Amino acid sequence: MMVVTTPTGDIGAQVLARILENGEAVRVIARDPARLPARVHEGAEVVPGSHGDADVITKALAGADRLFWLVPPPPFSSPGPAGDYYLNFTRPASQAAASQGVGVVSVTTLGHGYRGQAGLLSGALAMDELIEDAGVAYRALAMPFFMENLLHQVRPIKEQGMFSMANTAGRPLLAVATRDIAAAAAALLLDASWSGRARVPLVSPDNLTPTGMAEVISDTLGRPVRYQQVPVADYQAMMRRRGASPAMAQGFAEMTEAQNDGIYDAEPRDQAAATATSFRQWCRDVLKPAVG
Ligand SMILES: NC(=O)c1ccc[n+]([C@@H]2O[C@H](COP(=O)([O-])OP(=O)(O)OC[C@H]3O[C@@H](n4cnc5c(N)ncnc54)[C@H](OP(=O)(O)O)[C@@H]3O)[C@@H](O)[C@H]2O)c1
Repeated sequence: MMVVTTPTGDIGAQVLARILENGEAVRVIARDPARLPARVHEGAEVVPGSHGDADVITKALAGADRLFWLVPPPPFSSPGPAGDYYLNFTRPASQAAASQGVGVVSVTTLGHGYRGQAGLLSGALAMDELIEDAGVAYRALAMPFFMENLLHQVRPIKEQGMFSMANTAGRPLLAVATRDIAAAAAALLLDASWSGRARVPLVSPDNLTPTGMAEVISDTLGRPVRYQQVPVADYQAMMRRRGASPAMAQGFAEMTEAQNDGIYDAEPRDQAAATATSFRQWCRDVLKPAVG
């Protein structure tokens, strides 16, 4: 039996679809089961509630072999540091998985070994330590920047021919498409043979800077799109104006500074093969239809 969290989320839904296709017994945890499509109700057991809740996750893990674990992105209004959010959300699951002998496959960040403060990314790395220290069999899918983050910029791309972030324009920003994360997660969930702990870095075959991404986007859309780098402090202030708590705005700012400082390169990935989806392919398949 597999347990899949976030079945309504981008990655969780793709992981679940692959497991259902394979015909494996699967249980999902959903805050609002009414939002799940009919094929999920037909093919999976549904446990209502949040996977951050101790009673819910303990119930969901009864008799399970594997858990797909994904901490929801922290709400903008979170009052405390990002690290606390990831740890508080994960603690009940790590305890339940340890006591029930369930192997965990999780989505986390690349950057293991980075020594600086990295905001949200420090939170995800602390989560990995928590799960490992609980003695759980663990595969940490270690991710760079999701290509899907650019879907938040469809409007400026379409209307102004630009997108903006606080990432250094000329520094490579490693990236990955969420479909490749889901494929790797499903393969590990369906594989009963692994034990112990390992990190599984997943990085696309590109090594593009944000400026290089803008060039590929321009080529794919057939019109000019430029990248605009904004200062990290401006980005932090913009997040505050949009309702982020001071702690969350700081967590995002520290994350970006760590990306600009090379956090993703801190983690060795010598053995890791590149994922299937290049940035150009992703732009063709996902960004172009979204921009229209
Ligand atoms: N973006 C990046 O570049 C990047 C890079 C590395 C790692 N990550 C990690 O990737 C993860 C995000 O994955 P994603 O893009 O698949 O997320 P997503 O599409 O935003 O989905 C979020 C899911 O979380 C659920 N959810 C929200 N709040 C919840 C709560 N309080 N309790 C239970 N469920 C809740 C949502 O369900 P409802 O339907 O109930 O709302 C939804 O299923 C984060 O852990 C992030 O740290 C992101």
